[in-house]
Formats: sequence, structure tokens, C-alpha cells
Amino acid sequence: MTTKEENELLTRVEGDAPMGQMLRQLYWIPAVLSSRLEAGGAPVRVKLFGNRYVAYRTHDGRVGFLNEACPHRGVSLALARNEDNALRCIFHGWKICVSGEVLEVPNEAANPECFRKTVNVKHYPAVEGAGLVWVWLGQGEAPAAPNFEWMNLGPEQAYACGLELDSNWLQGVEATIDSSHIALLHQSHLAHSKMDMAAARVNNAVRYKFDDTPYGYRAAALREAPDGQCVARVTEFVMPYYGLIPPINTGDDQDRTVIIAVPVDDTHLIQWYIFYNTKRATDSMKRAQRANTWPMAGGICQDPDRAWGQNRRLMANGNHTGFTEIVVEDFVTQVSMGPIVDRSDEYLCSADQAIIRLRRHLLKAVRQFMVNELPPSATPEARDYSGITATGGRLKSIDDDWRHLPR
Ligand code: FES
Ligand SMILES: [Fe+2]
Repeated sequence: MTTKEENELLTRVEGDAPMGQMLRQLYWIPAVLSSRLEAGGAPVRVKLFGNRYVAYRTHDGRVGFLNEACPHRGVSLALARNEDNALRCIFHGWKICVSGEVLEVPNEAANPECFRKTVNVKHYPAVEGAGLVWVWLGQGEAPAAPNFEWMNLGPEQAYACGLELDSNWLQGVEATIDSSHIALLHQSHLAHSKMDMAAARVNNAVRYKFDDTPYGYRAAALREAPDGQCVARVTEFVMPYYGLIPPINTGDDQDRTVIIAVPVDDTHLIQWYIFYNTKRATDSMKRAQRANTWPMAGGICQDPDRAWGQNRRLMANGNHTGFTEIVVEDFVTQVSMGPIVDRSDEYLCSADQAIIRLRRHLLKAVRQFMVNELPPSATPEARDYSGITATGGRLKSIDDDWRHLPR
């Protein structure tokens, strides 16, 4: 059982909260869509861990990531002019470049050359991959940027989108790795899909098997199909917030999905989705275009007074949940738990083993971090993500070794 104290440790990410400190210090964070940063265009405000930042793109295409407040007297740099590959604050004209150097302090008459060098600008390393800008918010030397298989794919092979939700980040991670809801919550969608899961949807009782890895764990959700075979879905959990979801249909040229639950503050997260295909152009454009309607769903699906947008007429006509989108079903269930669910007041069952394991991994890591130990998932070996792919397929029987499924 998770205690109230553990729940606080797991969920709080603002200020000095150890979990937030650990996530910022040890892991890279997807922060904003690359496409929102236009070369020489307006800076974009980003909120992470309760702190405000701006991201911008220079005329020559580089990305800068800074604290939002101007180091002079705190005016928002979202208002700044994007000039000659640097931001110029509109208040007194201080000019700051991507590397955090203050280039000009026009209102300092005494000795501007010396003075400008004394100003410490809070800026952060940024890289781009899979249509997202990734930042590192720690102190000291940044670890290597993540080398997941989707990071270097072009826009035709990787598509990212995201939505801010009114829930704590951990609810997002837990939703992602909870395979046991799929055949129940999403049944109306599976019924019409060619998904092999549909064959197994008569069987909601998932048997889990796990493999702990340096980066997190692999969770095989095993379901007996009506023909006696076994449908296996192997989800990868990569510390601290990645869920890699196996393709809907088996085959190594299928689109894959990654979900990343990034803390905005204690009670909000951005749920990032990356749809990608390493073999060919992704099929997910249709899904991605539909994703453009998520933000519209966002307002309604987070309003309890409007039943989170649930449509009872749809339900009367056979739809299980009253929601037309799979992702909205996920969003609504997660948000309806409240901003920070009380994990000391749950009845976990055997289908919740992936959730229990997730909490155990996170608690162990944050407790190690608190006594200045490096958690295993932050070692250089564990940071090699290049071979990690979620997989799925059929086994002859539920007792066959799922680890032999090709990745
Ligand atoms: S507040 Fe930005 S230059 Fe003065
Ligand atoms: Fe789901």
C-alpha cells in the first residue's frame, strides 16, 4: 500500500520537493513543440515544475531556453524582441543570447562591458528530436540527451502532439502503463478495429509478467485468446515518465506510440504523444490530425460539471463510455480522479502490478537521490535507450516465454 507520505513524495514536484529536483537534475524533459518556435519569431512561454520559462528560435535556427523573467528586473521575456539571434527585453533593452550571455545593457552608463559579464542568466541546454524541444533543467553538467529510436526521425516518420491536463503527473504515467484498462475502457473502439487485442477482449483478466531493466522495466500483459493462444502486449516503462506502447497490430513496420507525462506543476501535466515508425512514413497522420481536436476536447473533458463531456446518448446507442476518442477516454478517467489522487485510499488488485512496480521504482530512485546516490536509471549504461522498443504478438500458450518476442 502507498502511504500518504509516499504519495506526497511521489507526486510533489514544485520548489524543493525531492521528486521535482530529481526529475530536473537527472532527466531531459520534452518542453514544447518545435513547430511553435518560428525562426526570429515570438518567444513561447513554457511552464514546468511550477517555474516559468521562455523558448525561442534565433534567426539562424537555434533554440534558446531561459527563465521567463528578465534578469534585470523581471519583465517577461515572452514580450522580448527577437533580434539578431538574441532576445532584447522591451523594458530597458538588455540583450541576451542563446548561451545565456548578456550582450548589451544599454541603460548601464558606468561600465557596461564589465557589468554585463557579472549577470548570471538562467538558461538551459536544449536539443530537438521527434518534433519536440527537449531541455535539461539541472545544475552542473548535462547528461547525454536521450537517444531513443524516434529522436532522429524526420517529420514524415515521427509526429508529436500534447495536451495539458488538470492532474498530477503521476496519474499520467500510471494511465500509460496500465494495460489492464484497455480491453474494458476502450472496448467500443477495439470492437471495430483489426487489433489482435479485440480477439482477446472477452478476457479482461490480465496476467502480468515483468522484467526489471536498468532503465525501468518491461511489462508483458498476457491475455488468453478464445483459441487458447495468448495475446501479449509488452509495454516499456523508461524512468521517469516514458511509456512505450506496443503497436495495435503485430508486425515490425507498424506505428508505435510513446506517451510522456511531464509535470507542469503539482496539479497539471502535459501528456505528450509521439507517434512514430522507424521503417516507413507513419500511418498516424489521421490520428495526429484528430489530435488537433484534443485541445478543444480539453476544456470540456476537464469539467466535472459537464460530466467531463460524456455523452449519454452515445452510451444508449451502444458506446461503452460516451466518448468518441480513445485518448479522451484516457484523459477523462485520469482527470476525474481529482488533481492529486489519494493513493493511501485505494484497493489495488493483481492487475495493478505494473502500477505498484512503477511506484516502487520511483520511490527507490527518489530516496537514493535524497542521500546523494545515483539511481540505476541515471547511470550512463541505463541511458542508452537505442534498443528499446515496445512489442507485442502471439504466444502459443500463456506459459511461453514472452521475452522471446522480437523487439
Ligand atoms: S527588465 Fe528587462 S531590461 Fe529591464
Ligand atoms: Fe488507455
